[in-house]
Amino acid sequence: MAIEQTLSIIKPDAVSKGVIGQIIDRFESKGLRIAAMKKSQLSREDAGEFYGIHRERPFFNDLVDFMVSGPVVIMVLEGENAVVENRVIMGATNPKDAAKGTIRHDFADSIDANAVHGSDSIENADIEIKFFFSKREIH
Ligand code: CMP
Repeated sequence: MAIEQTLSIIKPDAVSKGVIGQIIDRFESKGLRIAAMKKSQLSREDAGEFYGIHRERPFFNDLVDFMVSGPVVIMVLEGENAVVENRVIMGATNPKDAAKGTIRHDFADSIDANAVHGSDSIENADIEIKFFFSKREIH
């Protein structure tokens, strides 16, 4: 299976709950390596551009409000089949639908405050990684 990279964001709800370490442990213990990591306070411009694909969706403004409500932790995860693996570890977008033992089941409160973001395809992972990291920040 191919070694891939994917983008992961620990969202403001999970950062403020103090579960950064527990979430990173979920990735590392399932074989995803942290290839890059930083803590950041997103501007409205950053969040709007990052989630530009959702600009026309009714939840867009709430999503941007939420993503700028506190600091986030942004990572590049690397490993076999990393895009799909990360999505399995995260669980369904809505924590009500997320399987037991997934990050969203265990740490998320609502579809907005859903603890983590992960790229949904290899193509988007490439775009999202380049949005936040330069090549020299990825190891
Ligand atoms: P994320 O994986 O970061 O991608 C877009 C985010 O929009 C999603 O997680 C949710 O937090 C948020 N969102 C809010 N409402 C919806 C919805 N109805 N469908 C999909 N995403 C939603």
